[in-house]
Amino acid sequence: MYKLGLIGHPIGHSMSPWIHEKLMEQQGIEGKYELLEIQPDEFGEKVNLLKEKGLDGFNVTVPYKEKIIPYLDGLDESARHLGAVNTVHHTDQGWIGYNTDGRGFVHSLKNRFPDIFHNNAKALLLGSGGAARGIFEALTRSDIARVDIANRTIKRAEDLIQDIPSKAYSSPLTLEQAKNTLMDYDLIVQTTTVGMNPDHDKMIVSLDHLTKGTVVSDIVYRPMKTKFLNEAEKRGARLHFGHEMLLQQAVYAFQIWTDTEPESSLLLNEFEQKLKGV
Ligand code: ATR
Repeated sequence: MYKLGLIGHPIGHSMSPWIHEKLMEQQGIEGKYELLEIQPDEFGEKVNLLKEKGLDGFNVTVPYKEKIIPYLDGLDESARHLGAVNTVHHTDQGWIGYNTDGRGFVHSLKNRFPDIFHNNAKALLLGSGGAARGIFEALTRSDIARVDIANRTIKRAEDLIQDIPSKAYSSPLTLEQAKNTLMDYDLIVQTTTVGMNPDHDKMIVSLDHLTKGTVVSDIVYRPMKTKFLNEAEKRGARLHFGHEMLLQQAVYAFQIWTDTEPESSLLLNEFEQKLKGV
C-alpha cells in the first residue's frame, strides 16, 4: 500500500491525485495519493510532521520547490543544478529530492517530434522563471545545439544561462528581439503563466514572424489550447501542449516511487477528456 501525496499552496485544483490514481490502477498497485496543503507560516512544522506520516513519497509544487531542500537528505543531478525539487522519495538513505519537470517536458516532446532533436536544432524559450529553468536544463542535455532565452527582464535570462551548467550555445534576448527572429528556430516554448485562465486572451509575444512547421509549445494547460497555440496553429506550426508535459512529469515521479514503467500514452486521451470537463 503506497502512501503518496502533494504539498503546496494552493493545491485544491491539482490534477495530480487523478493522474496518480490512474497510474496505480494501470500498474495494479494499491495506494493513496493525498493533497497535503501547507500554509506558508506552518511550513517547517508541517514538513517535519510529514516524516512521521510514513509517506513513500510526495510531489512538491509552488511555493515550496526550493524551500523543501534543507529538509532533504540528498538530491538528484537535475534538482541540484536547478535548486528546485518537485518529487521526494523516502528511501533507506532518507528523503531524496528529484526534479522531473524538464525531463517530462523533453520526453513528451521527443515522443511527438523526434525530428527536432538533432545537433543543428535551435530552440527559443520565452520566460526565465522556475519552469524555464527546468526545461532549459533538460533541453540542453538533449541533442539541441542552441537554446536561447528571451525574457521581459533580460537580466533574468542572462542569470539563468549563467546559473545552469549546459553544453548548448545560448544567448539572452529581449521579447522584442525574440518576436522578430521567430523564424530562426525549430522549437519555441512558452514557459510563463501568460495566457492562463482567466487571462486566456493574452499572448507573451505576437507570432507574426513564425514560419510553417516550427514546433510551438506552451506549458499552460488551462485552457488546453492557449491563444498562443491557436495563433501558432493558424500559421502552420506543429503544437505541443502543456498537459503532455504535466502527465509525463507525473509518470517520472511515479516511476521513482514505485519502480514500475507506466505508459503515459495509454492515459493521454482520458486525461484530455478529464481536463476538458474541469
Ligand atoms: P515561476 O518561478 O513560478 O515560474 P517567476 O519566477 O515569477 O515564476 O517567473 C515568471 C516568468 O513569467 C518570468 O519569466 C516573468 O518575466 P520577468 O522575469 O520579466 O518578470 C514572466 N512573466 C510574467 N508575467 C509576464 C508578462 N505579463 N509578460 C511577459 N513575461 C511575463
